[in-house]
Amino acid sequence: MKGLILSGGKGTRMRPITHTAAKQLLPVANKPILFYGIEAIVDAGIKEIGIIISPETGPAVRTAVGNGDRWGIKIEYILQEEPLGLAHAVKTARPFLKDDTFVMYLGDNLIKDGVAPLVKRFEESHVDAFILLREVSNPSAFGVAHLGSDGRIICLEEKPAKPKSNLALVGVYLFNKNIHTAIDEIKPSKRGELEITDAIQKLIEKNFHVGSHVLQSWWLDTGKKDDMLEANRVVLDEMHDVSMLGAVSEDSKLSGRVHVGKGTVIKGCTIRGPAMIGDNCLIEHSYVGPFTSIGDQTKVSYAELEYCIVRENCQIIDLHGRIEDSLLGANVEITRGQQKPVAYRLMLGDDSKVEVV
Ligand code: DAU
Repeated sequence: MKGLILSGGKGTRMRPITHTAAKQLLPVANKPILFYGIEAIVDAGIKEIGIIISPETGPAVRTAVGNGDRWGIKIEYILQEEPLGLAHAVKTARPFLKDDTFVMYLGDNLIKDGVAPLVKRFEESHVDAFILLREVSNPSAFGVAHLGSDGRIICLEEKPAKPKSNLALVGVYLFNKNIHTAIDEIKPSKRGELEITDAIQKLIEKNFHVGSHVLQSWWLDTGKKDDMLEANRVVLDEMHDVSMLGAVSEDSKLSGRVHVGKGTVIKGCTIRGPAMIGDNCLIEHSYVGPFTSIGDQTKVSYAELEYCIVRENCQIIDLHGRIEDSLLGANVEITRGQQKPVAYRLMLGDDSKVEVV
């Protein structure tokens, strides 16, 4: 069995962060989201993974992930020239996949229980495809499954205006080679994409066996800022092994689970976990509240942060208000200006969002 991770696409819902970064490389608890998918596949005993990349963000994905040595596996990159849909990505990966069975994992998804139990069920049940479902409150934003009273799938629809159920398709799928013929038989959807949902529907119509499992544990699709913050909350909440690798002054108060990276200095602070502070940071005279992740080489001085993701090399200095519910990209500076007249002075990229009090 092989792994296929989709890390192409445009990431439009995460702009401006994704103007310069692949959304799959954004950190959750200081680790790129994509790494969670890779690790879940490696844990299932799979040794060969193909990663779909786009021309824009592919080089950054390759640099961050490498050739797989660090996980003891082989990683191959597959360039998808345009984001023409999830089924199009599978088509592009055909020379890599050959006729092997494979697990397809959407690079912006996180699931609690990993993929090992699913691979086992797929192999034991001898189905042609196996999908995961999860109850959601906004099914129109996803692929939706309609199940019969016996639990069998009646039909699947991609982002329907009038969903027949509240069961969304989770971004982890298992397939055998029959999916390729199904993909060859579908047409682009209204949004112009070759949908994997339509290809699975085609399998059902052709009487192939499609198994499903309704997840009870958490699943996160990190498409938007709030989803990222929620993913960070959930992962930090479940982080049990924390290390204290930096230096914390006696006048600092750390409570709960707080990871402090190497070379980091914390002075005169209150830090309430769960929180994750990267390497070589300086956090001084500040408050860092629960569910906050701070990337490497960031400086926080006379400031307050809570429920935030702050990437590497940021400077947050001398603020009056608290920053909450926020996602800061790399190298962001937020400082108190000394110039008169007193005013907000901003340099924001396209699609930035700022909320002031
Ligand atoms: O997250 C689950 C949902 O994922 C499912 O419920 C939907 O049925 C499925 O279509 C998909 O919907 P999204 O609209 O969330 O997919 P998105 O465009 O965000 O793409 C998912 C991942 O695949 C993301 O990491 C980008 C990558 N991708 C996407 C496209 C369209 C590619 O690599 N190539 C592509 O052509």
